[in-house]
Amino acid sequence: MTDSKVHSNIIFSQQVDVELRKIVQEYPAGKVFLLTDKMAADFCMPLIQKVIDEYSIQIVAIGSGEENKNIQSIVEVWDFLSNNGADRKSLLINIGGGMLTDLGGFAASTFKRGLDFVNIPTTLLAQVDASLGGKTGFNFNGLKNEIGVFMEPNSVIINTNFLKTIDRENFLSGYAEMLKHGLIKSREHWDELLTYDMENINYDALQEIIAHSVVVKEWHVLNDLREQNIRKALNFGHTVGHAFESYAMKTGRPILHGYAVVYGMIAELHLSAKQCGLGIDELNSISSWMIAKYGKFEIQESDFEALYQIMTHDKKNEGKRINFTLIPEIGKVEINVDCSKELIIEALEYYKNL
Ligand code: GLY
Repeated sequence: MTDSKVHSNIIFSQQVDVELRKIVQEYPAGKVFLLTDKMAADFCMPLIQKVIDEYSIQIVAIGSGEENKNIQSIVEVWDFLSNNGADRKSLLINIGGGMLTDLGGFAASTFKRGLDFVNIPTTLLAQVDASLGGKTGFNFNGLKNEIGVFMEPNSVIINTNFLKTIDRENFLSGYAEMLKHGLIKSREHWDELLTYDMENINYDALQEIIAHSVVVKEWHVLNDLREQNIRKALNFGHTVGHAFESYAMKTGRPILHGYAVVYGMIAELHLSAKQCGLGIDELNSISSWMIAKYGKFEIQESDFEALYQIMTHDKKNEGKRINFTLIPEIGKVEINVDCSKELIIEALEYYKNL
């Protein structure tokens, strides 16, 4: 990777309380607020408790999980800010996973037309993806992230100590987005992800790998915040992946987002081989590595049509075409690629037979 720029306000630190204190002291007394959920409150808040006490930071907690990423939770946060005298000079600290940072970012961006917010992501998925890049919002009418705005956080503090309490499945789920970053932008990053020892996690080494992944994410955000162009590269694996995720949910076999992205990446690697010249050996070796680490969401031929139909409703589509990002080789992308239904079904067949 040649370009290693990230926003200067992305802070990598194993001392999250020290970094947070530096930020909080810039705001008037009584004007700093904190949003969390039950899970983060129990496991992650102790790391910043001293700062909370020192500055009498007021706290609001919402329910954990995707089912609480809704307008009711947003109203809870707006009510809390309103009842406690928040104004445009205030700061909202969002501490939690991706659902929390998306939702808190939206609440802060819209309250009195916007107040500052800081994200402290506590899951791997949030640290390498969701908390960065300014996509904020919530689910509406059964549609994921249907309402939202692009608004970047004033700062993001990334600390791998939070990851010590996440389970293996959630670790792998976040790791999937890092694998995607390697595949779309950097063979070097891809290689380090393949050799990193996931069975014996070294958190200092992880901090470094996360930093490399953040550089990839940030490169796309800095070049195209509103996803008109190259940011679409970050959607690699997500067109088929979202179909897997929704179908798994609908059929009562839910899977985590990152697992769905891995299965989606396998199908989209197949499309890349058929349509953009990715080598067959590369396709086969990446796919078997992924299946060995992530297992498989089993599908039958009779599931193909339903999966295809879900893809036709993807919010990234333009007009009637299903919009793909594909990779001609590791580290390179082609965006806005059209694929025929036959090729998509063939890619699902490839996945099914692995
Ligand atoms: N998660 C993809 C993006 O932020 O664009």
